[in-house]
Amino acid sequence: MADAEEIQDAARFHVEVAHHSEPFFLKGCNHLDWGIKNRLANIFDPTSGRTVMLAFDHGYFQGPTRGLERIDLDIVPLTRYADTLMLTRGILRTSIPPSYTRGIVLRASGGPSILKELSNEQIAISIEEAIRLNAAAMAVQVFIGGEYESQSIHNLTRLVDAGNRYGIATLAVTAVGRELTRDARYIRLATRICAELGATYVKTYYVPGFETVTAACPVPIVIAGGKKQPEMDALRMAYNAVQQGASGVDMGRNIFQADNPAAMIQAVRKVVHDNATPQEAFDLLQQLKG
Ligand code: 5RP
Repeated sequence: MADAEEIQDAARFHVEVAHHSEPFFLKGCNHLDWGIKNRLANIFDPTSGRTVMLAFDHGYFQGPTRGLERIDLDIVPLTRYADTLMLTRGILRTSIPPSYTRGIVLRASGGPSILKELSNEQIAISIEEAIRLNAAAMAVQVFIGGEYESQSIHNLTRLVDAGNRYGIATLAVTAVGRELTRDARYIRLATRICAELGATYVKTYYVPGFETVTAACPVPIVIAGGKKQPEMDALRMAYNAVQQGASGVDMGRNIFQADNPAAMIQAVRKVVHDNATPQEAFDLLQQLKG
């Protein structure tokens, strides 16, 4: 029982000061409830409003990818530089220390391996499992124009419903089949559909004209790293993306397949969080490598 004796009258009401209510820092997210905003603030840095997501979920369809053969040795040391980790529940449970406190973005769709038609994915996790693993977001592949377009949209909308019920964000990942042209027109179509259907944020590819993609999408967009490029090219792509409205990167191979992944992720952070130019970030990379 609280001590009820000698209770002092409350007096500091500051009646002349209007009640302060801060708008949430992420585009299109102001209406969300406290829990989902809190989880988003554990994915995106509230100071820069951006994120460096470290993606290493590739094994869910392609097995032990180069650079991901030993998550414990190659990836765990990088986690301190990431704002959030994008991974499967199997790798989370077996290989990531539970003392990791930043956001977890769980791979939530899957099914076919690289030996089959990739777009034929289903939801691959229950909402209870996502909650149990303390996920901040669930990531689902969406194949606009693909053979299983409707099924992948259905996966997205089911996860959005479940995620909204419990305050977990949904990341729609726009996957582009080989037969489709990866240009601003297509990426605008794919990202806008994901936002319209309820995705909390969207991951897509950087393309020329990217400022029209971010302008037309009412929720945050992060770019996928894509296949390994020379370091300067990857830094330039990240720079162009954030300068043209992206809220960060979700980068995998360009980090974990770099010859010095720890240096590369720090250089990417410089571009994303500090607005460093590609050359400044490259100089940092060389310095850290040295
Ligand atoms: C797999 C994914 C990957 O997480 C994504 O492609 C990021 O990795 P990378 O930078 O290597 O492309 O969504 O479908």
